[in-house]
Amino acid sequence: MRKELLTISDLQGLSREQARENFRMYMNPGLATLMGLLDFDKLFVRAEGVRVWDRDGHCYLDFVGGYGSLNLGHNHPRVLEALRQVSTMPNLLQVSMGAAAGALAHNLAKITPGKLQNTFFCNSGAEAIEGAIKLARIATGRSAIVSCRSGFHGKTMGSLSVSGREKYQKGFEPLLPACSVVDFGDLNQLEAFLRSGETAAFVVEPIQGEGGIVVPPEGYLRGALQLCQRYGTLFVADEIQTGFGRTGKMFACEHEGVVPDILCLAKALGGGIMPVGAIVTTQELWNKAYGGIEKCLLHTSTFGGNTWAAAAGIATIEVLLEENLPGRAAELGEYLLAGLRGLQERFPLIREVRGRGLLIGIEFEQPAKGVLAKVAGAVNKLAEEYLGAMVAGVLLNRYRVISVYTLNNPNVIRLEPPLIVTREEIDAVLQALEETFEKNRSLLGFGLSAGKTVLSGLLGRKK
Ligand SMILES: Cc1ncc(COP(=O)(O)O)c(C=O)c1O
Repeated sequence: MRKELLTISDLQGLSREQARENFRMYMNPGLATLMGLLDFDKLFVRAEGVRVWDRDGHCYLDFVGGYGSLNLGHNHPRVLEALRQVSTMPNLLQVSMGAAAGALAHNLAKITPGKLQNTFFCNSGAEAIEGAIKLARIATGRSAIVSCRSGFHGKTMGSLSVSGREKYQKGFEPLLPACSVVDFGDLNQLEAFLRSGETAAFVVEPIQGEGGIVVPPEGYLRGALQLCQRYGTLFVADEIQTGFGRTGKMFACEHEGVVPDILCLAKALGGGIMPVGAIVTTQELWNKAYGGIEKCLLHTSTFGGNTWAAAAGIATIEVLLEENLPGRAAELGEYLLAGLRGLQERFPLIREVRGRGLLIGIEFEQPAKGVLAKVAGAVNKLAEEYLGAMVAGVLLNRYRVISVYTLNNPNVIRLEPPLIVTREEIDAVLQALEETFEKNRSLLGFGLSAGKTVLSGLLGRKK
């Protein structure tokens, strides 16, 4: 029996076909098929900074950046060194006070705005949202939660209940009761909900990520905070994707001088290596929720705040500050946005380019029904649901640029590279985009071109 188990050494020699088969047989067959259709099912074997290499030695630029987890890039040496430094300490000893977790919480209190001070550690973004919902309910004694249409906060039951796209909710009902959505950017709708005085929390992303990289109107977050304060509702900022320098400031709320009551963090906090999530709140709210020995164990996590996770967080914050990566994101984000706006002027296929810092989305014109009728059925269907994915497929397979569509708006591709990206790497991606649009000036051209990839995927002709 033992002989049949794969070892770490086996990984080194694994072929693309074997990796694909393991994924299909023992993980998610549908996802394996979807990735196969777009020729996304490559086997990457090495990663450093903004670059990854496939089994054949081809180098790719990673402009997905772990959906915002790789602000420092892949395998940052300072994060790896931090893990080495703590590798002889106890990693999991929950019956003691984790010194590393305490140090990271200390540092988070220093870099988060206002009076945010007490941190609870978990292991993912969705868990951070769960923690925020629970904290808001117990601290306010209210149950209702308001969030935004097209917002994305995760896929566990609580976080799914406050996410704004039905596609991911259907089939899992009943979701958490008393959850409602309002339009992102609309303060009147928000006030109409808050007025009842029954809402525990307003959960919002400062910039919607999976919703299609949507920047709200100037003043929206400030206005929402004021409404929350007026009606006794807690303002929960989901900075899981926007945090840690991504949008040009350490936290995106800071663009409007907003201090949330609860700040949700994850992704980049783990330095691209460890899974780490966190909520940070004020001492006052923490004490209301979990103060005293009666309540101090009401919300816990076995792995939350483990030494390796905390060490990765400490090193990440150090590098972000030392290298002024938020400033770099602001500067290079402007550069990338300007380049993309230049392309938008030339190519009508691009409906809009938007974003802040290095969180940027390109929205395409929606394919009109029937426009792709000449293309094979599977391609037609894919194009309707996943035009962004088809563009990303062409970028990956022709230009070795990794990008991806946004979950709640598949007509948008996002560019979210590590914040250590260089101007030259940005230029290479702009060039790839220009050539892509030059060759595929119409939607039909795009469908056909991407269709070739899809068809070769369907026919099983793989490199
Ligand atoms: C804004 C936001 N919140 C929450 C989540 C969920 O995080 P996780 O996938 O770690 O559960 C995501 C993930 O993409 C996100 O972008």
